[in-house]
Amino acid sequence: MTAALPTVRTAGRPFDPPEDLFTRPPLSRLTYPDGHEGWLVTSHALVREVLADPRFSVRPELRHLPILGAPGGAGPVPPGVFTAMDAPEHTRYRRLLTGQFTVRRMRALAGRVEEITAAHLEAMERGGDTADLVTALALPIPAQVICELLGVPYEDKAQFQDQALALVRLGADPAQQAAAYGAIYGYLAGLVAAKRAAPTDDLLGDLTRSDLTDEELINIGFVLLGAGLDTTANMLALGAFALLDHPAQLALLRADPGIAAQAVDELLRYLSIIPFTVRTALEDVDLQGERIEAGQTVTVSIPAANRDPARFADPDTLDLLREAGSHVAFGHGIHQCLGQQLARVELQVALPALVTRFPSLRLAVPATDVAMRTDMLIYGVHALPVTWHRS
Ligand code: HEM
Repeated sequence: MTAALPTVRTAGRPFDPPEDLFTRPPLSRLTYPDGHEGWLVTSHALVREVLADPRFSVRPELRHLPILGAPGGAGPVPPGVFTAMDAPEHTRYRRLLTGQFTVRRMRALAGRVEEITAAHLEAMERGGDTADLVTALALPIPAQVICELLGVPYEDKAQFQDQALALVRLGADPAQQAAAYGAIYGYLAGLVAAKRAAPTDDLLGDLTRSDLTDEELINIGFVLLGAGLDTTANMLALGAFALLDHPAQLALLRADPGIAAQAVDELLRYLSIIPFTVRTALEDVDLQGERIEAGQTVTVSIPAANRDPARFADPDTLDLLREAGSHVAFGHGIHQCLGQQLARVELQVALPALVTRFPSLRLAVPATDVAMRTDMLIYGVHALPVTWHRS
């Protein structure tokens, strides 16, 4: 059977992936918008197998994309953009960066995340009894944290935050995207030059002491800033929405913030905000009795894998006490999310802090009126109006 990638979610079920994903066998043929005949993988086991197999490449010039208007050019990969490189090119950059994203460093950052979160919750409370959780909390916390980690002055955010969003909008005008890219690149070039002149004690400052060229450093800064801005922000807002829509689960977290670590992994599994990633076969690969030919692209469905009943019992139920750690919301294999410990720390701090500080927190609009990000590659909400009783 060949068909297009299912992308339409069922009305009234904003947290559930498109239903048609679940009518597919673990490996099925997929027709891409450019006419390419490739594959779709939906089971947890097979998703991990493909992502761990070096016969599948991440390189953009080889791939076909399963939806129209997805961002990301197909030109040559600029130096430093390791997310688009295979081993061994990828390995060199990843090694340099893994040393910067250690669990220990991320834990040390937790204190700052707590301060930043507390300041935003404070401002929300002072502001009255309603707020949009996206602008009040979900956007500023990850933005401020990634800026501090990289050594990008948060006051400069006007120079990159909106442009970064333009880069991930589905169907964005290529000229607009190029302008956004140019603006952020120019900003980071100035910053890297300043850090070379007067090295700072932050991630980009540290990297100026490595053997990376300016171009590599700027592009690495670009990748990390982009990855750190939009992902955690969406997970934070969508996570808050899911909790408000599941009051018994929210009550568990409020009663015992000690469950935050497993609760966050369960939310990552249940919500799977990144809908897919793609890999292209470098040689013929036999999988599940089928032959994937060299040059064919495989789309890996993260939401389908994370709702696979063979891996997670009762997968459509949000169960904050579940052991969900083996989810693939951060991917798998050599490209598994570099920022996952940072994202976990932010979510584990911010979500419990929000629900304990506002015991009467609820949606200010019917759940069906919440504007979902069906027009963006990364899923989430555009706005989340909430209200509470003032104490
Ligand atoms: C909840 C938040 C996040 C989610 C759901 C998420 C998800 C993912 C996924 C699925 C991948 C693998 C993509 C693939 O294999 O094609 C990935 C890779 C990556 N993520 Fe995240 N991410 C999050 C937060 C972050 C943050 C805060 C950073 C900050 C630096 C970050 C940086 C990266 C980088 C650099 C890669 C590429 C790694 C490589 O190619 O070696 N992510 N992420």
